[in-house]
Amino acid sequence: MMWATLVLTSVLASAIPSTISQSEGLGWHFVQNGSTQLTALEAIVVSPTLLVVFDRVAGDPLQINGHQAWGAIWNTETNNVTAIDVVTDTFCATGGILSNGTMLSIGGQPVENLTSTPESPYPPEKDGLMGLRIFEPCLDPAGVNCTLFENPETHSLDEKRWYPSSLRIFDGSLLIVGGIHNSTPFFNDKERSASSFEFFPKKDGGVPRPSEFLNRSLPANLFPRAFALPDGKVVMIANNQTIIYDVEEQTETILPDLPNGVRVTNPYDGAVTLLPLSPPDYIPEVLACGGSNATDDFTNDEVDRLSSQDPASDQCSRIVLTPEGIAQGWIVETMPEGRMMPEMILMPNGQVLIINGGSTGYAAVGTVRDPVGRSNADNPVFTPLLYDPSAPLDSRMSREGLPTTDIARMYHSSVSLLPGGNIFIAGSNPGSGIHLDDKFPSEFRVEYLNPPYMTVPRPSFSNLPEKVGFNQKITLDVEIPEGLNTSSIKVSLMDLGYSSHAFHSSSRLVFLEATLSEDQKTLEITTPPNNRVYPPGLAWLYLTVDDVTSKGSQVMVGSGGTPPLPDEGVPIPLRR
Ligand SMILES: *[C@@H]1O[C@H](CO)[C@@H](O)[C@H](O)[C@H]1NC(C)=O
Ligand SMILES: *[C@@H]1O[C@H](CO)[C@@H](O)[C@H](O)[C@H]1NC(C)=O
Ligand SMILES: *[C@@H]1O[C@H](CO)[C@@H](O)[C@H](O)[C@H]1NC(C)=O
Ligand SMILES: *[C@@H]1O[C@H](CO)[C@@H](O)[C@H](O)[C@H]1NC(C)=O
Ligand SMILES: *[C@@H]1O[C@H](CO)[C@@H](O)[C@H](O)[C@H]1NC(C)=O
Ligand SMILES: *[C@@H]1O[C@H](CO)[C@@H](O)[C@H](O)[C@H]1NC(C)=O
Ligand SMILES: *[C@@H]1O[C@H](CO)[C@@H](O)[C@H](O)[C@H]1NC(C)=O
Ligand SMILES: *[C@@H]1O[C@H](CO)[C@@H](O)[C@H](O)[C@H]1NC(C)=O
Ligand SMILES: *[C@@H]1O[C@H](CO)[C@@H](O)[C@H](O)[C@H]1NC(C)=O
Repeated sequence: MMWATLVLTSVLASAIPSTISQSEGLGWHFVQNGSTQLTALEAIVVSPTLLVVFDRVAGDPLQINGHQAWGAIWNTETNNVTAIDVVTDTFCATGGILSNGTMLSIGGQPVENLTSTPESPYPPEKDGLMGLRIFEPCLDPAGVNCTLFENPETHSLDEKRWYPSSLRIFDGSLLIVGGIHNSTPFFNDKERSASSFEFFPKKDGGVPRPSEFLNRSLPANLFPRAFALPDGKVVMIANNQTIIYDVEEQTETILPDLPNGVRVTNPYDGAVTLLPLSPPDYIPEVLACGGSNATDDFTNDEVDRLSSQDPASDQCSRIVLTPEGIAQGWIVETMPEGRMMPEMILMPNGQVLIINGGSTGYAAVGTVRDPVGRSNADNPVFTPLLYDPSAPLDSRMSREGLPTTDIARMYHSSVSLLPGGNIFIAGSNPGSGIHLDDKFPSEFRVEYLNPPYMTVPRPSFSNLPEKVGFNQKITLDVEIPEGLNTSSIKVSLMDLGYSSHAFHSSSRLVFLEATLSEDQKTLEITTPPNNRVYPPGLAWLYLTVDDVTSKGSQVMVGSGGTPPLPDEGVPIPLRR
């Protein structure tokens, strides 16, 4: 019965004429199209046309091999979903792409026993806590024969990890950060915490590295936010704490706490991003917005002191990661509203889109004293916000021209910039099964947010090799529509990240030096100086002229070899 209702809903939704008119005309537009038929709570772009999305074994309508599917390929050209068969449970996992282009899905939840019904037979899933799932580069535009390889006997984590995060580092392998060993009502805690780092492919003989930071930042420290710095070190934020982790020396350097008691990791999810890195100095800056300033000084038995109506933090905090910047500390800015579980998307022009979440409450499910249905959060924020990192302090945030949706994206949503330059938005399921009648139901509808450049003539380029080295000059053929100001050119090399729980693991934007020829027909670009500025692996290249962005093209940065890879390229030029 449930499935019949669902199909009907999605057919009706795509037939509403107003959704068509929304996609027309200048400006930003939300466009709803298609249904994932599972809660896409994790999403990653794996090819020019495809994303891989994951849920858990929760009774989702999508079927494969006679049981419910919890993994799928979403085709952005057909707006259609193809189920993939997954062995272990991917719920609240992380992932990323290795230097050889292979995508890895990491961690997940223990088996949850569902009631088997003829419509939804009990699926054969296995414990996902130590899951490692390998999705090899998918060359078919429709994803034909693209499957997930899993063998828990030969490929598994060294430690159980639910709610971990991950990051591609300078040698092209993935650093896997934190998580929890088993189920928790709300917070991480000392008994259950996976307070350690490990790698894929394995380092240190498969022995996880204990982390004082992950121990100290308990209990609100799940899905730690981590970013590769241009010198190869890693900045990490968990709860209200920040460190720089030196992967090679295995040291943790403590940085100032986020100001005003604001916490930004699960279940107090804010959003954190590394701001775009620009030549010649690639000075790293981190921006953290939203989350909560509630205390975390209580136990899982006392969560009823929290309310779904508690205001989320409206604070953004930004720090420059140089000795001077660290000495200056975090600079605080204010958003027009508080946001719990916002998502931050780096746009090819260097701006940051802040989207989704609620303005009150918390992440996680059914634990506050007054959940809304099962949601710990309420008051969805339906209008996105743009943050311009290069504008003067206090004039960086704007909602001007941004549209308003009517689809709430609460806990268990995902968002990604697409190769086409628009934004994929899916999921939302703040419940522990499939619930269609809650105020915030299990949400299967896909929505795109189309920036203004989607409806005007766009620049384009060709002759980008499939693979580029570091510090290499490349000449692109470009076509620039008439009337655009060609003095304003930006070339961005991007990792689109792995979206899970308000975090985009490995997401990154590096601007490239670019010189337009006098006849404006060719553009000479210089690839990143070395593998620490852009960790070797897949990237998407976009050209923005006068704020009009091209479609992105996929490029392998580095040798494309299997990690770990040696250092390559030249040091960042020292300028003082
Ligand atoms: C939805 O996507 C399909 C496939 O790309 C397309 O044919 C259709 O026009 C789209 N509908 C809307 C409302 O944009
Ligand atoms: C969508 O996928 C289903 C099976 O997954 C297939 O039967 C159907 O033809 C597809 N539709 C389009 C428009 O590709
Ligand atoms: C879940 O199902 C498995 C396999 O049927 C069974 O062994 C296990 O005891 C069940 N666990 C719970 C908590 O019901
Ligand atoms: C998919 O695999 C089948 C069986 O190996 C093969 O016959 C078919 O050609 C493959 N299709 C594509 C598009 O790779
Ligand atoms: C974790 O912190 C406690 C103190 O709160 C300390 O006793 C313990 O040694 C720490 N463990 C690690 C691995 O840092
Ligand atoms: C960060 O949180 C801890 C633990 O709740 C608290 O002791 C500390 O004062 C907070 N730091 C700031 C700057 O508010
Ligand atoms: C906590 O955040 C709320 C919402 O932004 C604000 O009203 C309140 O003053 C903050 N409390 C403290 C102690 O900073
Ligand atoms: C073109 O862009 C450049 C660089 O952003 C700017 O300085 C200049 O004023 C712009 N010219 C016009 C005509 O807008
Ligand atoms: C990439 O490396 C991983 C780890 O060694 C391996 O499992 C995978 O098959 C490799 N992919 C390719 C395309 O070589």
